[in-house]
Amino acid sequence: MGWTGKTAVVCGGSSGLGLSLANQLVAQGVKHLILIARDPARLYLVVEQLRKEAADNGRQAIISSIQADLTDGESARLAGIELGKQAAGVDILIQAVGLSDRGTIEGLTRQRLMELIDANVVVSLHAIQQFQPFLRSSRGVIVLIGSLSSLFAPRYLGGYSIAKHALAGLAQQARLELSEQGVAVVLCCPGPIQRADAGRRYAGLPQAKSDLPGEAILPREAMLPGGGAKISGLNPDELANQILDAAHRRKPLSIIPKRAWWLRLISCLSPSWGDWLLLKKTQ
Ligand SMILES: NC(=O)c1ccc[n+]([C@@H]2O[C@H](COP(=O)([O-])OP(=O)(O)OC[C@H]3O[C@@H](n4cnc5c(N)ncnc54)[C@H](OP(=O)(O)O)[C@@H]3O)[C@@H](O)[C@H]2O)c1
Repeated sequence: MGWTGKTAVVCGGSSGLGLSLANQLVAQGVKHLILIARDPARLYLVVEQLRKEAADNGRQAIISSIQADLTDGESARLAGIELGKQAAGVDILIQAVGLSDRGTIEGLTRQRLMELIDANVVVSLHAIQQFQPFLRSSRGVIVLIGSLSSLFAPRYLGGYSIAKHALAGLAQQARLELSEQGVAVVLCCPGPIQRADAGRRYAGLPQAKSDLPGEAILPREAMLPGGGAKISGLNPDELANQILDAAHRRKPLSIIPKRAWWLRLISCLSPSWGDWLLLKKTQ
């Protein structure tokens, strides 16, 4: 219950992992929770649902939202101003906006790569730039949601691993720079997460369609969670609690599941062994 009575901001809190984190923060008894996302209708519904859950459990949480597109600098700046109106200070800022991908390096276009950099890296840059001043007085924590793809780059994930590796660089530089102000930066790298739409998420991508002439067809497994990695999906609520615990302990890097540390260590010691293991785990 590390975040009881605290003020929390969750970027991307209206869906997926961000929503699971919002739920767990309410269950832990935060004083004030602020969700940030683009779609006002979905934000409204989620805020109402979280308020109801808090009330049903006898909790006194203030739950509010800010509508913003964090890829856009001006929208992020306005969100910073609005945050200043809603809260005097913030204890934990979670940046959970992200976008995954499927495809080969051969088929990756500059436009798609820039889209992924915007959705995974620029959003975090803007969130840190606009919201970190609110964390200084509390000596708070920024959590950036990466992925195992921040550490490894298996086949067929399009531009996702490139973007998530860049996010890891942003996290380390921000951690070193912001430590002078007492603000911690935690990079969380989870594996695939259980979701209702698992296996169907990439059906709309051109590379998922088998009838396009001249398109390299990806193996069907590549469309599965983790690109078909032999790893079971993480329970989102348990994962959210692990992330909040890592944030509370101000761990610089949290890798979930923990056994992925082995692959990281082996890959550092011998890139050839690392590649061999990664191929084996994703075939
Ligand atoms: N799903 C997995 O298996 C998995 C595994 C490992 C890591 N991750 C990482 O976990 C994070 C969450 O993934 P998810 O799959 O749970 O996400 P998701 O369900 O797609 O939710 C994304 C959230 O971010 C918001 N959002 C998207 N673009 C935005 C923007 N430009 N500005 C502000 N808000 C924006 C969305 O709301 P609006 O659309 O209304 O803006 C939504 O609330 C990502 O960083 C992802 O890379 C996911």
